[in-house]
Amino acid sequence: MNESGYPGIDGFLGTRAPLMLDLLVTAMLGFVLVLGWSVYQVRYRRRFLLHKRVQITLGVLLLAVIILFEIDMQLHGWQSRAAGAVNGVPPAPVWYALYVHLVFAVTTVVLWPVVIVLALRNFPNPPRPALHSRIHVPLARAAAIDMVLTAATGWVFYWLAFVA
Ligand code: HEM
Repeated sequence: MNESGYPGIDGFLGTRAPLMLDLLVTAMLGFVLVLGWSVYQVRYRRRFLLHKRVQITLGVLLLAVIILFEIDMQLHGWQSRAAGAVNGVPPAPVWYALYVHLVFAVTTVVLWPVVIVLALRNFPNPPRPALHSRIHVPLARAAAIDMVLTAATGWVFYWLAFVA
């Protein structure tokens, strides 16, 4: 609880959001940039090992951030900090934005481990294009797009709940 009576620790972006949410929205920007760079490296520079290492690191980091974030949300919640919250309950548009975001977030959390495990099992070591490319390229593209949409819808939710 801080001076304003909101539960949890204040964030650093100067909005109403709690600390873990500020960390997550900032981290997502980094994830999207590094992901784009990694796909560029594999597609245009054919740096397969670099791509493999970056993708596994992103997957592990993402899992760690999500676990910390979920613990914080379970402990402190976010609702009473949201814009227009009446008796600690945010208005409908904030919930709609959250549900749209969750569709992408949940599918991303499922898709990423699948893509990584399949790639580790089916690409040669060190990695290079193989029969598995026929599955990996479309599936991993979907996983990458899903991640970008998770970030974009997350930012919309953040804006509606903690900035607007
Ligand atoms: C969630 C994790 C991953 C994502 C999102 C991802 C994303 C991608 C994308 C989008 C491409 C296609 C680039 C293009 O348009 O040509 C690609 C290619 C490739 N990836 Fe991944 N990747 C992931 C994990 C991995 C892992 C763990 C490995 C190695 C074990 C790997 C090895 C490769 C290889 C060898 C290619 C080249 C395939 C070819 O051109 O035939 N990727 N990846």
